[in-house]
Amino acid sequence: MDVSKAIRARRSIRKFTQRRIPHEDLERLVDYARLAPSGMNKQPLEYVIVDEEEVEREFFNYTSWAGSVDWSPTEDERPRAYIVILYNTAVERVTVEEDSGLAAENIMLGATEMGIGSCPLGALDEDGIRKLLSIPDDRSLCFAIGLGYPDQSIQLEDGRDETDYWIDDKDVLHVPKKPVEDLLHVNGW
Ligand SMILES: Cc1cc2nc3c(=O)[nH]c(=O)nc-3n(C[C@H](O)[C@H](O)[C@H](O)COP(=O)(O)O)c2cc1C
Repeated sequence: MDVSKAIRARRSIRKFTQRRIPHEDLERLVDYARLAPSGMNKQPLEYVIVDEEEVEREFFNYTSWAGSVDWSPTEDERPRAYIVILYNTAVERVTVEEDSGLAAENIMLGATEMGIGSCPLGALDEDGIRKLLSIPDDRSLCFAIGLGYPDQSIQLEDGRDETDYWIDDKDVLHVPKKPVEDLLHVNGW
């Protein structure tokens, strides 16, 4: 899959088949993440793969899903793995937020190419996750990415007047995106 196709095909997936992701594929995604740009090349980010069934099942309890709609994945729709993005507070803080977003996009585009669906997860119970994964005090949580094989139809919509996504009566998730002419300025405002 070329990059432009992956950019268009990547959507936040919130329903997954229960097929497990090979562990080496998850490690490959972390390899893509480590190659992302970082401010002054400080590389403050570290990653935890969560794919052991017991841990992955409990991890779900510390996540929140689909803030725009009153819906959450059922037990047989949940992700089968997560990659948690952390930063090392001992490393000089330059552009941690930007770095984590760029690393996450590498993970999500790489996953798309591999047929794996992903959803960035910022609404996390940090205390629960810290305890579950024994995260040391000098590592801080950026966010996590839920991963699994997609089991959801998603349609992009013209989002000029709408940013909330919605699910229709055929269970299709509609995701509005603003048109480029509303966002783009060329050589000035
Ligand atoms: C930093 C960040 C945090 C997010 N956190 C959550 C989350 O906690 N739960 C969730 O269901 N979706 C979460 N999302 C997914 C967004 O809702 C999603 O990106 C948006 O609806 C647009 O859909 P798209 O990713 O398919 O383009 C998050 C997205 C970003 C960028």
